[in-house]
Amino acid sequence: MKKHNQKEIDRRRTFGIISHPDAGKTTLTEKLLLFGGAIQMAGAVKARKASRHATSDWMSVEQERGISVTSSVMKFNYRDFDINLLDTPGHQDFSEDTYRVLTAVDSAVMVIDNAKGVETQTRKLMEVCRMRNTPILTFINKLDREGLDPLDILADIEETLQIECAPLSWPIGMGKRFKGTYNLYRKELNLFAAGADRVQDEGVTIRDLSDPRLDELLGIQADDLRADVELLEGAANPFDLEEYLKGNQTPVFFGSAVNNFGVREMLDAFVEVAPAPAPRATETREVSPYEDAFSGFVFKIQANMDPAHRDRIAFLRICSGKFTRGMKVRHHRIGKDISLANATIFMAQDRANVEEAYPGDIIGLHNHGTIKVGDTFTEKEPLKFTGIPSFAPDHFRRVRLKNPLKAKQLQKGLVQLSEEGAVQVFRPLFGSDYILGAVGVLQFDVTMARLKDEYGVDATYEGIDYATARWVECDDRAKLEEFEKRNQGNLALDAEENLTYLASSEWRLNHVAEQWPDIRFLKAREHA
Ligand code: G4P
Repeated sequence: MKKHNQKEIDRRRTFGIISHPDAGKTTLTEKLLLFGGAIQMAGAVKARKASRHATSDWMSVEQERGISVTSSVMKFNYRDFDINLLDTPGHQDFSEDTYRVLTAVDSAVMVIDNAKGVETQTRKLMEVCRMRNTPILTFINKLDREGLDPLDILADIEETLQIECAPLSWPIGMGKRFKGTYNLYRKELNLFAAGADRVQDEGVTIRDLSDPRLDELLGIQADDLRADVELLEGAANPFDLEEYLKGNQTPVFFGSAVNNFGVREMLDAFVEVAPAPAPRATETREVSPYEDAFSGFVFKIQANMDPAHRDRIAFLRICSGKFTRGMKVRHHRIGKDISLANATIFMAQDRANVEEAYPGDIIGLHNHGTIKVGDTFTEKEPLKFTGIPSFAPDHFRRVRLKNPLKAKQLQKGLVQLSEEGAVQVFRPLFGSDYILGAVGVLQFDVTMARLKDEYGVDATYEGIDYATARWVECDDRAKLEEFEKRNQGNLALDAEENLTYLASSEWRLNHVAEQWPDIRFLKAREHA
């Protein structure tokens, strides 16, 4: 392995932020980019979000495409580290892409609103992180506002998300009485001043909490801090790097993103403890990032809605070797060599043509429909990366064609859009309708707009009484046939002909699963 590559790989940190809308992901992203010197982008992140809020019309949102594609991956440097922050779309554009992005990261930062605790979207994203035991660092936000007791938030995280918390900083009061945080491992006091947008943040070192300077600085709240720290020393888990890297423990920081407070403290810890690119599983063997030969997989495809540019961008995560512009790689699913001549790297400020890139980096490949989510590219060796599954949808619609003569186009459109990962398509065992499934409802609007635009198909949706789906498998053929016979009304085939059970509620699903203990009900499924 080339020495130069190792240095480049070890300084890379590729992560995503998991949070519920409004917890402060956009604000935190802006502050992180600010530290990374990508200041221009800081405004753009906000602007992009504002445009999303202002309209639910996806097409006009897409006119902002320049920004929207660029900010899918934000690259910035901090200290000696080269950081890739992958956007996890939230709000209306919460979709399967949000989940897929998490298959391409090495770690995640979880943002929690201190007044709300753990919320639904965070819980769902955490389930995806669990699949690969992704290490998670937690930032509890909005301490400048009244919220829940910090100990209650930690208990909520531990209970709801089944992950141990190890506080590395501790808040001193909150809301109007918020005085700052005490860094438990550096033994350093960080004093809060509202509105200060400081990029440089020097703490006051206080090794011994009985130091009278603490009383001078915090007044009567000094004793509260002393009591809290004493309590934590007895009750809280000490930080354990191994446990964090295994996804069993999350280090916790407190702060206020909008005031840029606690962000640098969190970022400093993040670059030090978060993992560099790790080995990745393929169907045949594990691939180390330090191997010389290039390899990578596609985790997301974004279509260009501009009719003049019908190309799509496939987002590829590099897993090993080094990418250099113009290199030839093998597209294994279709068995063809292609030249990566005009790959794009995503920089915070702009998209730029990339000359070289390393494991952990994301490159964008232009394509006209030949690339699917889950595709593997390597220099020679036939490999197929695993761990880039489809995720069981939570929303369903029945498709009604306005003009029956367009049935062929509809089929073609739906097959292609499902291959691209824009939506999931199911054919019920009974009946000839298509049922679409999605993780976020915006995916339906996008599908409808693209069916019309790209395939000339006019269709409408009807609501349908399903709330969740599971792929079903069973080693015993006879049992599976019996299950099929008894549950025909709820079974469908997905685009790759896999049997899927569609349920009207989680409760119903659990009930059926209890009745059929030999059947496996899978929430995620690998692409063929
Ligand atoms: P999101 O991307 O997770 O959806 O959240 P975003 O950063 O947009 O933050 C949601 C709201 O919370 C915003 O207010 C933002 O200003 C506010 N916020 C973020 N961090 C903090 C914090 O540390 N303290 C307080 N008090 N508020 C915070 P908004 O009113 O929706 O938007 P804006 O008009 O303030 O931009």
